[in-house]
Amino acid sequence: MDTTGTFWMPPGNSTIAGDVDSLFYFILYASIIIFVLVVGLSAYFSMKYRRRDGEVGKTDGLDHNVKLEIIWTIIPTILVMIVFVWGFKTYMYMNVVPKDAYEIKVNGQKWFWSFDYPEGGNSVNELIVPVDRPVKLLMASKDVIHSFFVPNFRIKMDVLPNRYSITWFEAHTIGEYNLFCTEFCGKGHSEMIGKVKVVSQEEFEQYAEDLAFSGEGMTLEEFGAKLYIQKACVTCHKIDGSNSTGPPWDNLYGKEEHLADGSSVKVDENYIRESILNPMAKITQGYQPVMPTYQGILKDKQIDALIAYIKSLQEDESLINE
Ligand code: CUA
Repeated sequence: MDTTGTFWMPPGNSTIAGDVDSLFYFILYASIIIFVLVVGLSAYFSMKYRRRDGEVGKTDGLDHNVKLEIIWTIIPTILVMIVFVWGFKTYMYMNVVPKDAYEIKVNGQKWFWSFDYPEGGNSVNELIVPVDRPVKLLMASKDVIHSFFVPNFRIKMDVLPNRYSITWFEAHTIGEYNLFCTEFCGKGHSEMIGKVKVVSQEEFEQYAEDLAFSGEGMTLEEFGAKLYIQKACVTCHKIDGSNSTGPPWDNLYGKEEHLADGSSVKVDENYIRESILNPMAKITQGYQPVMPTYQGILKDKQIDALIAYIKSLQEDESLINE
């Protein structure tokens, strides 16, 4: 069964979606039919046998009906058995990862997702996968419980600290699908949103190579500009002077930054590095302490590149070589 999306469900874009949806609709329609039957008959009988003047005791002595009781026991039992066997088969299919699956490590943390690919690359908030190939997700959290949910694939799995959880899917349509966190994980929970990008096998190889790219043949500054987008810094830090969740990056280097605790600090290489790896250490005045740590996500060279990029956004060059 292939769904294109209905009032009840978004389009199904993975190999499991058809099975999940068929079972869902079976339960839905069986419930609707039984509901209408029960409520309809109740209404009909209460009208038909309502009390009327001069008609006392019409249903007296009616205590049970063996035939009816057998029917209303057997039919629901059969329905429940169908749902059980069908559900169990689907559940087993969803829980047994195919042997040839491509494995991606998923990391959930307050409040974003990051993905590590076997080729050595890493992406943030955007999971890139090949179409028509089973993908295994090995998931863990760095802090609290999160939950990985892609409605179009009909998969949802909790992501726990100190323990791996596993799920898999095979996307059968190229496109971009929403990824949500469905476990309340604190202030930024509703912003813990990502995308799953399903691309062709050839395009995927290109992406994997690109994500694993360590900046050869590029200047540090150019590499930093690329990482600014790829690692999702751009979501919170603008480069046109405007305020966002975090301070803008342009004209940041060399500046005297006022901190939330009343002290101030000069923005230099060490301050930027510390802010990337341990963002809670120094909070800039007027901003919320919501920056996630990039410890373990960014390599040293990538941090150097981001610092070089931030420096390149400084218009007053005298501040750079001070
Ligand atoms: Cu992570 Cu909610």
